[in-house]
Order: sequence, then C-alpha cells, then structure tokens
Amino acid sequence: MKFLKLFLVLFVIQMQAQQGGMWIPSLLKGMNETEMKNLGMKMSVKDIYDVNQSSIKDAVPHFNGGCTAEVISPKGLILTNHHCGFSQIQSHSTVDHDCLTDGFWAYKMEDELPNEGLTVTFMVKIEDVTTSILEGTASLSSEAEKQKKIQENITALSNLLPKENWQENKIRTFYEGNQYMLFVTETFTDVRLVGAPPTAIGKFGSDTDNWVWPRHTGDFSLFRIYADKNNRPAAYSKDNVPYTPKHFLPISLDGVAEDDFTLVFGYPGKTNEYLPAVAIEQIITELNPAKIEVRDKALKIADSFMRKDNAIKIQYASKYASTANYWKKWIGETQGLKKSNAVTVKRESEKTFQQKITKAGKEKEYGTVLADFDKNYTEIAPYALARDYFTEVVLRNTELLSIGYKLYQLEQVYKTKGEQSFIDRKNNLIPGLANFYKNFNSTVDEKVFEQLIDLYATKSPKQFLPQSLINVNEGNLASEIYTKSKLQNYAGLIELLSGDAGTVLTNLNNDPGFLLVKEIADKYAKEVAPKYDEINVKISALQRTYMKALLELNTDSRIFPDANSTLRITYGKIKGYEPKDATVYTPITYLEGVMEKYIPGDYEFDVPEKLLNLYNAKDYGPYNENGKMPVCFIGTNHTTGGNSGSPAIDASGNLVGLNFDRVWEGTMSDLHYDPSICRNIMVDIRYVLFIIDKYAGAKNLISELKLVHPKKTNSLKKKNLK
Ligand code: ARG
Ligand code: GLU
Repeated sequence: MKFLKLFLVLFVIQMQAQQGGMWIPSLLKGMNETEMKNLGMKMSVKDIYDVNQSSIKDAVPHFNGGCTAEVISPKGLILTNHHCGFSQIQSHSTVDHDCLTDGFWAYKMEDELPNEGLTVTFMVKIEDVTTSILEGTASLSSEAEKQKKIQENITALSNLLPKENWQENKIRTFYEGNQYMLFVTETFTDVRLVGAPPTAIGKFGSDTDNWVWPRHTGDFSLFRIYADKNNRPAAYSKDNVPYTPKHFLPISLDGVAEDDFTLVFGYPGKTNEYLPAVAIEQIITELNPAKIEVRDKALKIADSFMRKDNAIKIQYASKYASTANYWKKWIGETQGLKKSNAVTVKRESEKTFQQKITKAGKEKEYGTVLADFDKNYTEIAPYALARDYFTEVVLRNTELLSIGYKLYQLEQVYKTKGEQSFIDRKNNLIPGLANFYKNFNSTVDEKVFEQLIDLYATKSPKQFLPQSLINVNEGNLASEIYTKSKLQNYAGLIELLSGDAGTVLTNLNNDPGFLLVKEIADKYAKEVAPKYDEINVKISALQRTYMKALLELNTDSRIFPDANSTLRITYGKIKGYEPKDATVYTPITYLEGVMEKYIPGDYEFDVPEKLLNLYNAKDYGPYNENGKMPVCFIGTNHTTGGNSGSPAIDASGNLVGLNFDRVWEGTMSDLHYDPSICRNIMVDIRYVLFIIDKYAGAKNLISELKLVHPKKTNSLKKKNLK
C-alpha cells in the first residue's frame, strides 16, 4: 500500500513535470527542485543559481540581446547557434574568403575577428523589487496614471539601487505586472568570431527543414569574450585579454538516451500562455491566417525570382529566411492549436476558474474578468486585424511602402518637433537606406506590391480603407507607382531628400509612392491606432487582474511567468513523439540522415566533400556513439525564440547539446503547451565537437575544453563498489 502511494505520487509528479514552464532560476527551491530531482536531476538548485558562489548561471549570457550563449572554456570561449552569429559571420565574408560558404576557423587567438556592436551580457543577480515598484500606485485610479508612476519608480530605482560602475540595473515585470524583478547585469563588447562551420553544415536543410523534425543541422558558431586586464568589460582593444569566466560548462562525451533528464537555460523572448480562449480563437481564425496569407504571397514572388536570378537570390536570401521563419511558425502554430483543441481546453479551464471565484467569494474582484475579456476582444477584433494588415503589408513586406513609411515619419518629426529634429532624423536615416537599396529589386517589389495591396484592399476591414484603395485597380496603381515614384532606387531617394526641409517636403508630397503611403498611414493613425491602443490598455489591465486571480486561486499548481527575455530555466526529458496517426518519431538523428537528405549542388541539401569523406571512413574520433555519429535530438523542454543557442545540460551540469529550434507540430507552445507534441530541437554536442576537431582540425579549441564522461564514470564507480 505504502509503495502504491509512493508510486502514485511519483507518477503524478512525473506527469506534471511534462507540462512545460519557463522558471526563474533564483526561485527553484521547493516544487521545481522536487520535480527536477524526480525527473533525474542529480545537482542541487544551488548549482544552477547561487549569488554567493559561482554557478551555472554564470556560464549562460544573453547573446546580442536576442539569443543565448554558453561559456565552454576557462578562456572565455562561447558557443551559440550559427543563425545567431549569422550576420557577424556574413560581415567577415569577402569574395575571396566567403565565411558563410567555406566556414571560418581561428587556429590561433590572433586570428579571431572583432565584431562591432556585438554584445554578450551576463546576469549577476536577481532580486524581487515588487513592493518598491508598486509604491504609490494603489491610490491612483486611472490605468494610465498607474503605468506612469510605475515607469517613474522603475527609472528612479534603477538609478538608485547599488551596483558596480561597470554594471547595469534592469527592472522587468513578471506575471503581467504582478511582480517586478531587478537584474544586475554585465555587458561585454569585445566579442570575437572564433569559428563557424560552412552553411552546408550550420544551416543544412535551410528553410525546408526549419521548424521540422527529423532534423540534421549543425547550427553552431563559436566566439570569444575579451576583457580588460582586470577581467572587466572594455571596448575592443588589441591589448584586451580573454575573459576568465566565473563558471564554464564541462562537456559530456557520453551523449543522451530517451528519458534522460535535460535542462535548458537561456533567454526566452516572449510567450502568451495565459490568454483567454477568446484571444486564442481570434489568433486561429483571423490574425494568423491573415498574416500567413500576406507572407505566403510575398515569399512565392521572391522565390520565383530567386530561382531564376542568382543576383536576386543573394539580395533576398537573408530577408527571405527571416520572413519565412515566422510564416512557417504561424502555420504550424495554427495547426497545433486546432489539433490540441486549445480553445476548448481553455474554455473548460475558464469554467473551473469561474467556479473557483464563486467558491472563494471573490466575485467582486474577479467575477467579470472573463466576460470583460470577451467584450474587449470582440471590440478590438477589426482594429487588431487592420493593424496586422498594416504591419505586414506596409511596414514589413512591401519594401517601397516600408521606405515610404520612414519618410512619412520624417514628415511627422518636422510637424511635431521642427526643422532641427527633421535634419537629425534625415541624417540618421540615410546610411541605413544606402544599405537597404543594395538588396532591393524594384521589379520583384512591384509584383509584391500588386498582390499585397490587393489583399489590403479586399481583406482588411473596409471601414478603414483610404480613398485610393477603394475599388482600386492594383495593376494600374502598381505600374503608376513603379514607373513614377523616386523611392525605387537610392539615387532617386537622395534626390527627394536634397535641400532644406521645405523643399524636401514639397518633393515628397509630389511623389506618388510617398503620397500613397501617407494616405494609408494617415487613415491608420487616425482611425485604427488610437482605438486599438485604447482597448489594448484595457486588455492589458484585465490580463493583469486575470493573472493575479490565477495565482491566488491556484496556489497548489505550477504557474510560471510568461517569457520576457530574462534568464529562465526549463526542464524535461529526451523524448520522441507521435505527430500523427501511425507515425512515431524517435528522439535522436544520425549522420546517416544527412546523407539520406543529401542532394548534390542543392542550395539547401548539399554536403561538403570533406564531410562525405569523414562519413565514408566513419572517422568520428571519440565523438561516435557505437560507431555512429549523432547529429540532433529532441526533448520536452519548453522553449521559444531567444532560446536559440541555449545550453542543453545533463543531470549533473554538463553540456550535452545546443538548443536551436522546435518541432513543427509543437510551435503553438508559445500560447498553449501540449506535452504530447511540444518538443525543442538541440544539436548533439558531440556533432559540434566532431566538426570542430575532425572537420575543421581546430585542435587548439578542443584543447581548451573540459571533456567529461559522467555516464561512464558512474558505471565504473558502481562496478568498483561491487
Ligand atoms: N526556427 C529557428 C528559430 O526560430 C531557426 C531560424 C533560423 N533558420 C532559418 N532557416 N531561417 O528562430
Ligand atoms: N530558432 C529560435 C531562435 O532563434 C529558437 C527556436 C524557438 O523559437 O523555439 O530563438
């Protein structure tokens, strides 16, 4: 009986532990720690986060504000994804030495390449500052006043709280404004490129394989942090020295097997796990389909040109990849939300929530939250849709319109702030525009314009359409604008921007491209944006109340705060999944799979000759697993954008993999985590080591690392004990 009980308790905990979650590393003691131990973790939570002694968190910095990295040597060597270091790798490429195609390896420290603007930020400590931030807000009745006071408190406190002079205080909100945390950070700016595999390895499978399992991408790159003589952050100087970290991750050569514990440590960007059902429904039926359709059209046009013309392919490759990334994610997300019945599941839990409110006698505080959500989401629907069309068509995917919008803003600066601000803004704008036009082709853009303006005119809410888009003939409008507008090339733009403010504004207001953007943007600014903002403020306030109620009424369950680009931990197990009927995915891929996908000469699936040779000779060195080369694996860790480059860590704190993606069926985990289909994708660290060592011959880097055998050592120890 006793055993049965214990078994049941363990079973329940095991099931719960698969529910996802992104946790604050300083608050793991208690429920999380118990779960992690039950899943197989052998460390204590103090090994993960400790303010007084070095811990794993000291090895996990934010990489350039958008990705994660991990320190893997005592000399400040860091590992992140290839797609995170992509623009740095690209920036060092020349015709003679194309680091993207050929890869790059520094065989000596002197060869490591500096990167202007690249930052790596460590988190020194976390503190709860909720009371101080909310001080003086209780008596304020309007939401706007409250937010203003909170902002003032944040600014004041950030300046006031103690820190070293090379550090920064950052305050972030958790649980939609119910909690505030202080982060003391240190940012290094001398960060040099050390190594990157060729794209045929680092981006193998490219957009076709993006968000997809089974996966075979070696998505990694290496950088090194440099510091001044005192090991503090310093601007680039040849006198800087490799940074000595407080902690670096040992690397396990023993690999992973199904059901092994893993944790992923990093900086997830944004999730919305606590939206009401009505919001999810809107995403599924209206917002995602609209955004997907716009990008679908834009991508198809770009693709048709890229396939015919190599120059256009180069110009559009990076833009195409970034547009395709979320386009594909939204498609998977929508399907996953439908498949997992997210709306019904949410509606059910909302019923329970409503009952709990009654039971707790909290009707006065929370009784109408759900009804108010319904009302406000219904009210915001047309504005939200119009906003998405405006963003996707004008700001993001029709390039001539997006440039036009920058000039529209320039005109606004003149109107609101005067001539000097206008001149400053104009001078700021020009260098970026020069770059923009290098990768712009007006024939491609005209086709995009024709189709996207058609969507705008026919699918976005009619009541917000400007006059010239009512019953518009898209073809005529396109040829009018793309023959007459000066926004089509850099020279034309510079012509428009020459002269004093008066001349520039007169010129702009004679340009048909500018005039169209102005008409659309004016209409949007008058009729959509203010109302959208007004309702949205109410929705945010409701979300805060809803979150407060969820926390108050569910004290026994695990409620994690939505991602907000702060350091989090997520844990789970190595696990396969069943994406559909009669299909089972196992959790580990091997180099054999790369060869199965290999298409000689293809831009996504070509394989470098040297890798073919190593494969044919099975020359995998100590990185093989019973004669095979593991490439990627999946687990139940709950990750999102920003977790790219995050370390996957084993039960004892060793690096086993590098996070870089999620599986197609589970991309809805940003809104609704379903343990049966949500998986994160990691590169096996042994594949990374194999590429560095056997492919690139960079023994200098391997010799810096601490390679360990946690599984083999344990079984040896056990044998010795017997
Ligand atoms: N889907 C991954 C992440 O969201 C990888 C993106 C980069 N790769 C690509 N093929 N576009 O951001
Ligand atoms: N590739 C994503 C990134 O760049 C991580 C994958 C995800 O969104 O889960 O952050």
